[in-house]
Amino acid sequence: MDGGATAGGSGGGSAGGASGGGLPGPNVPPVVGAAITAPVTSVFAGQLASLSISATDANQDRLTFTWTQVSPAGEQGFFFQNGSPNAQRWSSPETLTPTAYVLRVSVTDNRSPPEEREVTVMVRPPRFTDVFNAVLGVPVLQGGQCVGCHGSMGSYTVGGTPNAAWTRLVNVAHNHGAGCRSAGVTSLVVPNDKQRSLLYLKMAGLQPAACGDVMPRGTSAVPPSPPNQTVTVGTWIRLGAPND
Ligand code: HEC
Repeated sequence: MDGGATAGGSGGGSAGGASGGGLPGPNVPPVVGAAITAPVTSVFAGQLASLSISATDANQDRLTFTWTQVSPAGEQGFFFQNGSPNAQRWSSPETLTPTAYVLRVSVTDNRSPPEEREVTVMVRPPRFTDVFNAVLGVPVLQGGQCVGCHGSMGSYTVGGTPNAAWTRLVNVAHNHGAGCRSAGVTSLVVPNDKQRSLLYLKMAGLQPAACGDVMPRGTSAVPPSPPNQTVTVGTWIRLGAPND
């Protein structure tokens, strides 16, 4: 699935050392790459940044990789393991102003002191074109989860262009009637108020019972939509849901 991920939390884990025990003899510390490899270091909130670090161990010790957000303090983003623990994809949390996030990996063979490397990823707020291109309007063949059911028919239609999609969301009444409205959810998107925006609530799995199902419908994932995509939508709504 492009642009989406389904696990959360800080990243970590072990790799290498088929037997796990390492070779006999004196310990040699792991050789860790000089820098984290990050092809893209400027993203919008919720856009995944790929990170990886190379590391080898002469003793064939099992290596542990621990990925953390060093700064800013406060709300944490998400690391999603990308194949093996030395490679991750990272999403910022909701980010309302351009912010530099410092991310760290700590590598250890659990015998010598950990080696640390850091990388800075610049995160800006998403524009609506990002919401459309990375979440709502992604074609089914590219892993999109919304246009398959909401492409061209039914009570809610994403729309074929960002402008059409924006017009169908912002301050537009939903189809769930009085029960959902009296539970506090007034429109598909209420600018500056994601908790009253049905689009956000359904993606996060937080919609009141009178407001129908989670989106994408039928998923068993919790939360239903990839957390990074919900970060993109939530940030855009909190910024007033502009048509940019
Ligand atoms: C398997 C088909 C299916 C998929 C995939 C799907 N939806 Fe839905 N969606 C529905 C159906 C059916 C409804 C009407 C019932 C309901 O609201 O629970 C609906 C309702 C909605 C509504 C409420 C419309 C209104 O006016 O009440 C929104 C918003 C929505 N979907 C957004 C999304 C988003 C965003 C995605 C992608 C993350 C998505 N849907 C994926 C089938 C789907």
